[in-house]
Amino acid sequence: MKQREIKPGVLWVGAEDWNRTLFDSLIPLPDGTSYNAYLVRGSEKTALLDTVEPSKVGFLKSHLEGVTSLDYLVSQHAEQDHSGSIPWVLDRFPGAQLLCSSLAKSMLVDHLLVPEERIRVVKDGETLSLGGKTLRFIYTPWVHWPETMSTYLEEDKVLFSCDWFGSHLASSELFIEGVECVFEPAKRYYAEIMMPFRKIIRQNLEKIRGTDIRMIAPSHGPVFRDPASIIQAYADWTDDQPHNVVVLPWVSMHGTTAKMVDYLVEALAERHITVQPFDMATADLGKVAMSLVDAATVIFGAPTVHVGPHPALLYAVVLANALRPKARFASIIGSYGWAGKMPDIIKASLPNLKVEFLDPVICRGYPRDADFKALDGLAETVARKHKAIGLS
Ligand code: FEO
Repeated sequence: MKQREIKPGVLWVGAEDWNRTLFDSLIPLPDGTSYNAYLVRGSEKTALLDTVEPSKVGFLKSHLEGVTSLDYLVSQHAEQDHSGSIPWVLDRFPGAQLLCSSLAKSMLVDHLLVPEERIRVVKDGETLSLGGKTLRFIYTPWVHWPETMSTYLEEDKVLFSCDWFGSHLASSELFIEGVECVFEPAKRYYAEIMMPFRKIIRQNLEKIRGTDIRMIAPSHGPVFRDPASIIQAYADWTDDQPHNVVVLPWVSMHGTTAKMVDYLVEALAERHITVQPFDMATADLGKVAMSLVDAATVIFGAPTVHVGPHPALLYAVVLANALRPKARFASIIGSYGWAGKMPDIIKASLPNLKVEFLDPVICRGYPRDADFKALDGLAETVARKHKAIGLS
C-alpha cells in the first residue's frame, strides 16, 4: 500500500501484514494485521505518530522517502509492533524529538535502547502546535499497557488511539463506515488483550466522552469514519452486565465428557440460554476469548487425567483466569475413572474470576440417569441465576 491521506495534511504511512498468523507466539491472527503509523504535517512542524513492526520497516522507509525533516516522533505505546522501528526513524531524522508518556520513557530505553536525551515526556492533556495542527496527548492507560496514550488532533477532530479500538485485520480498505464489517476482528482484539483491564478502559471511555471525535485512527485495522459505533461497542463490552450466554470450553478423551456436554447444551438451550461450546482440542483461542466477553456463566468440561483436569482444558482455565471476564457464575462438569481432584484443581486455578461457583456435576465412568438429572439441575440453576440478574 502507498501512503494514503486520511485528512488534508494527515497521511497513513503504515504497513499491512497479510500473512502474519500469530501474535506473541500465542494469539491467532486469522485475518492478518496492520501496523498503522500516521504523518501529521502542520505549517511549521511535522510529527510522525508511531512506527511499524521492525520486519515491515521497509514500508515505512518508502513512505517517508520524500520527507526531508521530522520534528517529532510520538510513541503512543512502547510495544514493539508500534515502537520497533523507532531506532530507524531517530537515525534517519537526527533532529527529531521522541515524545511519549511518563511511564513509556524507561520502557523505550529498556526495550529499544533509545538514548534518553532524544526523549521528551509529554504530560496528560498537554498540547503541541505544529502550525494549524494541534496535537493533544491524552493518557489512556491499560489499553493495554500501563504507559499507553492516545493523541487527539484538535482541528480535524481525529483520535489516534493506538491499540484501543483497533483490530487485527489486513485490508486494502483504509476506511470503514460503522462497525459491522470489522465487529468480529475488533471484538476478538478487545477480548484477547483489553478484557483484563475492562474497568480502567471504562474510565478511559469516560475521559474522552466530552471530546468531539469525528474519526478514530487506531494502530491496527481500518480507520473509523463513524466512531460512535465502535465507541458504543466498547461501552457494551466493558459494561458490568453480562449477556444470557454460557460459554462451555470442554475436552473429551473417550466420549464421556462429550456426552455430558451435548446433554447440557440442549438442557440450557431449552431454557432459552445461548450456549457457546468449544472443544479445546481444536478450538480457536480467539473465539473462546470473544465468548468470554459477554458470557454470564462459564462451565468447564473435562475428563480426569491422572488426578487433575485434561491439560487442554487447563489451557482454557488459564485463559479465563488471565482475561478476568465479567462472568458471574461458573461450574464444572466431567468424569473420572477411579479417583481425582479435577474440580478442585480447576476451581483453585481461577482466583481472578469473581464468580459464584455452582455445584459441579462429575460422574464416574459413562453418565447414567442420575448424572443426566444432575445436568438438568445445573441447567435449571443457571437459568434461575441468570433470571435473578435480569437476563432472560
Ligand atoms: Fe499493537 Fe500492544 O501493540
